[in-house]
Amino acid sequence: MYQLLLVLHVLGATIWVGGHLVLSLAILPRALRTRNPSIILEFESAYERIGIPALLVQVVTGLMLAHHWVPEVESWLSADTPLTRLIFVKLALLAATVVLGAHARLRIIPRLNSDNLPLLAYHVVTVTLLGVAFLVAGAAFRTGGVN
Ligand code: HEM
Repeated sequence: MYQLLLVLHVLGATIWVGGHLVLSLAILPRALRTRNPSIILEFESAYERIGIPALLVQVVTGLMLAHHWVPEVESWLSADTPLTRLIFVKLALLAATVVLGAHARLRIIPRLNSDNLPLLAYHVVTVTLLGVAFLVAGAAFRTGGVN
């Protein structure tokens, strides 16, 4: 069971972080250069069908893995051991990702044009960096945690 959760978690991570890196490093620069929002919209409409389920898989498997490491759920926010600190970091990254993602999806994308494209770019790059931080924090569970 633990191994299956870990495989699903890592698979979800490749989709979420990989997709955002492609968006930030390949799609976004082209859209900004040509001031053409439809390049982003096209990528977004294809990607969100696998990106959002991947994030949901991350959350469910992540919570179950956190329970594997620290079964006392009430201590998760205490951040008083290396492992609870990592769980706290993961939950904080999740909150920031959800707030930024919802703001981009609900407020910026519906009225995306060449003027607010740079604002979307900041959101995309920040969510990508948060994704990389998720990976770094994830790898620390088995390599020592935050002391
Ligand atoms: C986009 C979101 C996320 C990404 C990209 C991500 C990525 C990763 C990665 C790459 C690992 C390392 C796996 C390994 O050691 O082989 C990991 C581990 C872990 N993640 Fe996440 N994670 C995400 C969200 C979450 C959330 C929301 C939680 C909930 C607290 C969570 C909890 C964990 C735990 C407990 C581990 C340790 C697994 C283990 O080694 O047993 N993750 N994560």
